[in-house]
Amino acid sequence: MADDLERPGGDAEPEAPPHAAPPSIWPFAFALGIAVALIGLIISWPIAAIGGAIALVFGFLWIRDATREVRGTPSPAPPARDDEAVELEDETAARYPRSVFLEGATLGIGALIGGIVTVPALGFAVLPAFVDQAYDAVDLGPLDNFPEGEWRITKFKSVADEPEDVSRRTAYVRNNGTLDGQASFTIISNRCVHLGCPVQPQGLTAEEVTEIDAESGPVEITATEPSGFVCPCHGGAYDIEGNRTAGPPVRALDRYAYSIMDGRLVLGEPYSVGSVEGEGAEAQITAYKIADPGVHVDGLEQYFYPYVP
Ligand code: FES
Repeated sequence: MADDLERPGGDAEPEAPPHAAPPSIWPFAFALGIAVALIGLIISWPIAAIGGAIALVFGFLWIRDATREVRGTPSPAPPARDDEAVELEDETAARYPRSVFLEGATLGIGALIGGIVTVPALGFAVLPAFVDQAYDAVDLGPLDNFPEGEWRITKFKSVADEPEDVSRRTAYVRNNGTLDGQASFTIISNRCVHLGCPVQPQGLTAEEVTEIDAESGPVEITATEPSGFVCPCHGGAYDIEGNRTAGPPVRALDRYAYSIMDGRLVLGEPYSVGSVEGEGAEAQITAYKIADPGVHVDGLEQYFYPYVP
């Protein structure tokens, strides 16, 4: 039998050293999860959550594999080897902890640097979306100050606890009369939806200013006759319902919700507007949660902005 024959030289041929562990796919799957999570932060939270879950699962598997030797995880009993193989294995075992240490140290330092770079950036990018901006109800005074069919410029303090120079706001108010027995007002914010400059009414504005001491603070009311609104910063222009007609703004002007309480006009929260069809009390408004200037609220472009919870 050929296997029983002694080889020339009398010694058996040494066995090949044990194979190194095959390369793991966990790091690639972990990186894929991080990439999906980052894309999800831009597109939608469900995708971010799926990416986060992928990164967590494969990150765990990666760490578990990388630290298997350090943790002394029992492995199946090795088959019987001859003396030379055992000697070779001992040598490998003696060296392995060092390589594991280096691998762990590299991973740890990489994770630390990655964390230092990405956590603050993510915090600044994502955190503001979770911080609710306060909007107090603002009493704009008796309805008599807003004759039907006319526009008024109103200047008021929007947040009771904030200093006046910080929370001073302007809105353009038109009394539309009534619709189905309900009072109707158009209340347009003066914040340009390009970069936030104050838009101005295009037309004559009275010099006389009416000042009233409302419960939520002083309010200034001035008559105006706009044919639209213009922005002095980059030439943005809007029609009388706030629809963009020219320049770089990306949507219609924001509006305010309102209510009538004890014969007074009370301003509610602002909201963003995609577009307005029709005019006055009959206007059909495509409304969205308030968005920052420059942010598209509808169409395909809306998916290129971080989700606002
Ligand atoms: S800020 Fe109004 S057009 Fe740029």
